[in-house]
Formats: sequence, C-alpha cells, structure tokens
Amino acid sequence: MAFPRAPQNVAAGDVILEARGVCVGFGTKMVLENLDLDVYRGEVLGFVGGSGTGKSVLMRTILGLTPMKAGRISVFGQDLKEATIAERTAIERRWGVLFQQGALFSSLTVRQNIQFPMREHLKLSQRLQDELALLKIEMVGLPRDAADKFPSELSGGMIKRAALARSLALDPDLLFLDEPTSGLDPIGAAEFDQLIYKLKETLGLTVYMVTHDLDSLHTVCDRIAVLGERRVLVTGSIDDMMACEQPWVKSYFRGARALRRA
Ligand SMILES: Nc1ncnc2c1ncn2[C@@H]1O[C@H](COP(=O)(O)OP(=O)(O)OP(=O)(O)O)[C@@H](O)[C@H]1O
Ligand SMILES: [Mg+2]
Repeated sequence: MAFPRAPQNVAAGDVILEARGVCVGFGTKMVLENLDLDVYRGEVLGFVGGSGTGKSVLMRTILGLTPMKAGRISVFGQDLKEATIAERTAIERRWGVLFQQGALFSSLTVRQNIQFPMREHLKLSQRLQDELALLKIEMVGLPRDAADKFPSELSGGMIKRAALARSLALDPDLLFLDEPTSGLDPIGAAEFDQLIYKLKETLGLTVYMVTHDLDSLHTVCDRIAVLGERRVLVTGSIDDMMACEQPWVKSYFRGARALRRA
C-alpha cells in the first residue's frame, strides 16, 4: 500500500536543502561532478543509484565530513561553507543522521547512545535526559527494557530502530538516513517504512533517505532522485520513474527485480 504523497509543486521557499555544482573526488578520481539537488520541506526524498556511485559520499559531503572540490550546499537557507562555527552548530542541532555503517557506539547502552548527542548539544539534567531517551525509545517502537541493552544484545532490526531513536535525539527538522532498511527482512523493512512515514506525518520531518529498497521507494518516498554519471540524472515521482526511459532508471524500476516485486 502506498501512503498519500506530499504535494509535488512546492514553492521555491520550501527548499530545505540546495546543492549546486557539487564536485567531490579522491585523488584524481572524481565521484561527483556538477551535481545539483533540491530537497523540499516535508518530503521523503528517496536517493537511489548503483552501488559505488557516490550516494554515501554525497550524504557525507552535505554533513561536512567529506570536503568538496567545488560547489555550494545550503541547508535551512544557510550556505554551509560561509557558516560561522555557531551557525554550523545550530544547523547540526536541526538535523539527525543514521549512517550506513557503524550505527551505534558498541560500548554504550541504547539509552547512552541516544543521550550522546543530547550531552553534546543540550544542557539538560540527567533525569530529563532519561525521560527524553525513553520517549525516543517508545517513538521508534522499541520496548522500554531496550534502554539498558548494549547493541550486541539487540537484533539487526532493533539496532536500526535504536539508531533511528538516536538520530531523533535533538528533535531534528531534517533526517538523513543511509540505507535504513538494508539487512532487514521484508516485513521488518515494511515496518520501518511505516515508522518513517509516521514520524514524517507526526513530527513534520523532512527525510533524505538513501535506499536500494524498491518497496520503500514505492510506499514511503514522495520524490526520488537518481544518481548516475557523477550527478543527479533525474528526479520525480515514482510514476515518473516508472515512465522514464533512461537505461539505468528503466532497468531498476522496470527490470527483472522490479517485476518480481509486482
Ligand atoms: N574516503 C574515501 N577515499 C577514497 N575513495 C572513497 C572514499 N569514500 C568513498 N570513496 C569512493 O567513492 C565511490 C562512491 O562511494 P559511496 O560509498 O558513496 O558509494 P554508494 O553509492 O554509497 O554505494 P553503496 O550503494 O554500495 O553504499 C566509491 O568508488 C568509493 O570507493
Ligand atoms: Mg553507500
């Protein structure tokens, strides 16, 4: 079942993230060249592309973890290169991140993992932090007793949920998710999709989601951006993707794997 979608014709003022002419490379190898991308407020943007095309590199570049050779990225209307340290910190407080690898600190319990960004950014009493951590744990559908467990004591699906709870620690406006459903069975993945959709609806989140999961793209994403040839090749709705004749898009959305899904 597909969820209702956000309007496609949003006003320009609703752009929450704008990337222009982004170039990123390692040594002489360019991974991204002249990449442009807009993310609109309140949407779930699904970001797809072949393995190794640079989806994680782009996310890390937006987050300031990988340097750009050229280009400009603005988030919440603020150019990230021109931001002062205080402005940068304020922006970081407004986004949450779930990385593709190393989702949680293995030496910390779930509660301590969730409180980690709170300690960095907020001055709250331990009691309030404990209450907030429990709230996030419930929000992502984990049992309360997961709070005192270490990541090694959790299933893969629970780890994803706990990592999501940590990414929600600071009540972000914008959530970055890199392959959140990879490694989950189809039912677990569908439940996770429903959770993302519910969070978007109830918290008004904007979600930037790198994914290979065709079900997620069909059910939870309002818009899809396709990375290829070192840039964003096409953007549009799932219907646009299904009608697209670009060879990679066609084989991805209408190829053998897509047909098995139907
Ligand atoms: N720190 C780095 N140093 C050198 N090369 C890197 C670095 N990080 C990424 N790369 C290279 O950049 C390219 C894009 O990698 P990236 O991890 O972004 O791919 P991806 O699209 O996320 O793939 P996947 O779908 O498999 O996660 C790859 O060729 C990768 O080897
Ligand atoms: Mg990746």
